[in-house]
Amino acid sequence: MNKDLFDNFTLGKIELSSRIIMAPLTRCRAINHNLPNELMATYYGQRAGAGLIIAEGTSPSPNGLGYTNIPGMYTEEHAALWKASTNAVHEKGGKIFLQLMHTGRVAHSDNLPKNAVVLGPSAIPQPGEISTYNLGKQPYPTPKAMTKEEVKQTIAEFIRSAKLSIEAGFDGVEIHCAHGYLPNQFINTASNQRTDEYGGSIENRCRFVLEIAQGMINEIGASKVGIRISPFSYADTEEDASIVQATYRYLTEELNKLGLVYVHLSHMGEPVPVKFELWKNIREIFKGTLILCGDFTKETAQTALLKNQADLIAFGRDFIANPDLVLRFQHNWPLAERNRKGWYGTSSKGYTDYPPFTQ
Ligand code: PHB
Repeated sequence: MNKDLFDNFTLGKIELSSRIIMAPLTRCRAINHNLPNELMATYYGQRAGAGLIIAEGTSPSPNGLGYTNIPGMYTEEHAALWKASTNAVHEKGGKIFLQLMHTGRVAHSDNLPKNAVVLGPSAIPQPGEISTYNLGKQPYPTPKAMTKEEVKQTIAEFIRSAKLSIEAGFDGVEIHCAHGYLPNQFINTASNQRTDEYGGSIENRCRFVLEIAQGMINEIGASKVGIRISPFSYADTEEDASIVQATYRYLTEELNKLGLVYVHLSHMGEPVPVKFELWKNIREIFKGTLILCGDFTKETAQTALLKNQADLIAFGRDFIANPDLVLRFQHNWPLAERNRKGWYGTSSKGYTDYPPFTQ
């Protein structure tokens, strides 16, 4: 049978109303000490028509709050406050996962709570600059190379965060292993020069994220754990193509053995052919659900489904200005324009003030 964007879909043990996924989007609205709030609940409730919402990158640790005003999920208070968002989505019949994102070296001490530390697999700074609360743009600092104890502790933080997410009513969690954040920093040789069992060989560089995945599965079950990866995105530019290919083939084989509910492939950066070749390999290796994300339109999404390149398609930026994106696709209504202003604002402007389409 041909797949269609508007099909129902069974993801693990939950039913999605379509194959249209809202991608995780950093929106920086947790403006009071990284606490989730009612404004965020309004925003997610407005978008409950998505087949599945994957809520924004949320830190499992004080050390992972590298960007300004991103939310946390590492205390009981966080879990209690996130319930407003999960309720807002469930009341409208929607489904919602939470993306767990530890920024690692993509951070600045000015953005972290007191006593938190900018950590990385090795003491190698990310090139470029980061926005801070008080100091404007700053060069990325050199992270503290994690001790073995810190590695174990961070893995435990991810696992506890997954447990708290389920307590908060999320239908599952997504491990953010893409775009140069901490699990990706372990995988990539440009950021990981460790000589212990978490660095060096492919197996060693993948160990950090695989231990997180295994631990989460033990706690909340494989049907509630997905992962996002982004081979050949900008974070991999310094790596040899053959290393990237071999690494992600191995990682996907292991993820398949673990039986994670989905692999979410994200395309950011250059649309190089080698990236899409590897996506095909990953599709063949991973027997569970595959989500693709990156610059899709309704038409290219339908084509990808028809060609069986994926099971689900995620849309990011179009969900910002179109809370009713699924209806607009269904009825061929025009899309509201993308307006970068407000993407990372601190108020409801450009966040919850996009109306649904009216004829
Ligand atoms: C961003 O804030 O630009 C951002 C955050 C998380 C991602 C990608 C981009 O995975």
